[in-house]
Amino acid sequence: NEVPEIMEEFHNVPNTDWNLPQNIAWAHKIKTDWETPENIIGTTIPVVGELDNIERYTIKVNNWSGTPPWDYEMAVKEDYQKAVDSTTEWQNFDAEKRAHLLKRAAVEIEKSRANLIGVGVAELGKTVKEVDVEVSEAIDFANFYAESSLEIAKEFTSDDIGINLVLSPWNFPIAIPIGGVLASLAAGKKVILKPSTNASACAYLTCKCLWEAGIPKDALYFLPCEEAILDDFLSSGNVFDAVILTGGTETALFLLERNPQLNLYAETGGKNATIVTSLADKEQAALNIVQSSFGNAGQKCSATSLLILTEDVFNNNEFKALLKDATKSKVFGNPWDYATEIGPLAVQLSEKLKHVIQNTPDHQWLVKPKLNGNHMLTPGIIWDVTTADYPYQNELFGPILCVVKAKDLKDAVRIANNVDYGLTTGLESLDDNEIEYWNTHIEAGNKYVNRSTTGAIVQRQPFGGIKASCFGFGMKAGGINYVLQFTNIKSKTTDW
Ligand code: SER
Repeated sequence: NEVPEIMEEFHNVPNTDWNLPQNIAWAHKIKTDWETPENIIGTTIPVVGELDNIERYTIKVNNWSGTPPWDYEMAVKEDYQKAVDSTTEWQNFDAEKRAHLLKRAAVEIEKSRANLIGVGVAELGKTVKEVDVEVSEAIDFANFYAESSLEIAKEFTSDDIGINLVLSPWNFPIAIPIGGVLASLAAGKKVILKPSTNASACAYLTCKCLWEAGIPKDALYFLPCEEAILDDFLSSGNVFDAVILTGGTETALFLLERNPQLNLYAETGGKNATIVTSLADKEQAALNIVQSSFGNAGQKCSATSLLILTEDVFNNNEFKALLKDATKSKVFGNPWDYATEIGPLAVQLSEKLKHVIQNTPDHQWLVKPKLNGNHMLTPGIIWDVTTADYPYQNELFGPILCVVKAKDLKDAVRIANNVDYGLTTGLESLDDNEIEYWNTHIEAGNKYVNRSTTGAIVQRQPFGGIKASCFGFGMKAGGINYVLQFTNIKSKTTDW
């Protein structure tokens, strides 16, 4: 395979090395600094843009630790209208200038790593390690999309006037919003970011890095708001060149049913399976699965929530014990402790999770989850779930793994594909023939062999799904065509 030139320019940044004592001391300092968050982010997360003096209101949102000591200012319709109507010098910048500012943004994000970790833990209860990885991904997006815009400019001219809207979720409160923003900016668009309200402090501190780098405020608008504010802008026609949504499949369907013309690019839910066959390295498989299922307390669209075992593995008590041990040995608890591997739920226990916890009979739990309050839920594994059962059919978005029995690999692939979604999928097998069969027949956007199904790396594992996990062209975040899809390519013909 030919290596695209872009690969030679781009390198992923490393995550923090938690084996080094100075980094552990650094994590302690972050915790101490965030005991007084008002010194770092103030007491109100503001709406930001070149805006009129408009009356706005603020709201408070409860989170995993109670009520954070800051308010969220809410944008109003006039803010959106102003952002849509305004002009910005960004649209006159060539690809080189845009790439330069994006690379400066990468440097600013790296400089803010400590505060971004702090806000991720404070606002959403993500663990220090999980936020650290997210900060690296955000930096990678900035550098990678900068290179993408340079690559595109080599081949095409474009007419880049326009505006994108990014609607981002709370589970990756740094990398996902900023990924959509950076790709839009790389394509030469103005962009409005509307983060999930409960994750706005994270999005705000990340946007600050971009403004600090010299990206103008009239090119990147930060407009958290209540959903009704967006109705006039989304319910008919196309105000936005692209609406980049990461969220629920229901949300994407709702938006498209209301306005079939909407230029929607959505990465939505998943009901992701990992298959383990008798030819797997069982010990490694157990570790990969536990990481895939319980990282960020299972609150990842990419999480493995179905574990499909071929019959011989299902009946193998040794694998059962490995899985149980790997789960129990995960460090559960306070997300501020750098060693914690599984922290609280960011939002309070959902009805779906409650349903599963209340209705699963005791004998079916291989590991029984324990609930303390509304957020502290230890991981659970349900043994022998059938395709008719509630936890098989529903995306639970929490630390619950369902184990399903299959006759053989062919049957396992059939079961894995028997869901509406197609986001991530895993195979644990050391056998080439099995890998080939699975690779040919499995239906998912991101396929992983002998590796966890979460934590896609920019460029190496461009991220995005198929089936009900994807709306739009299906270009993958962190992949070479992601920026291109937002660019208005022009072709010019002259007859002499
Ligand atoms: N990109 C994330 C992952 O791979 C999910 O959004 O886990």
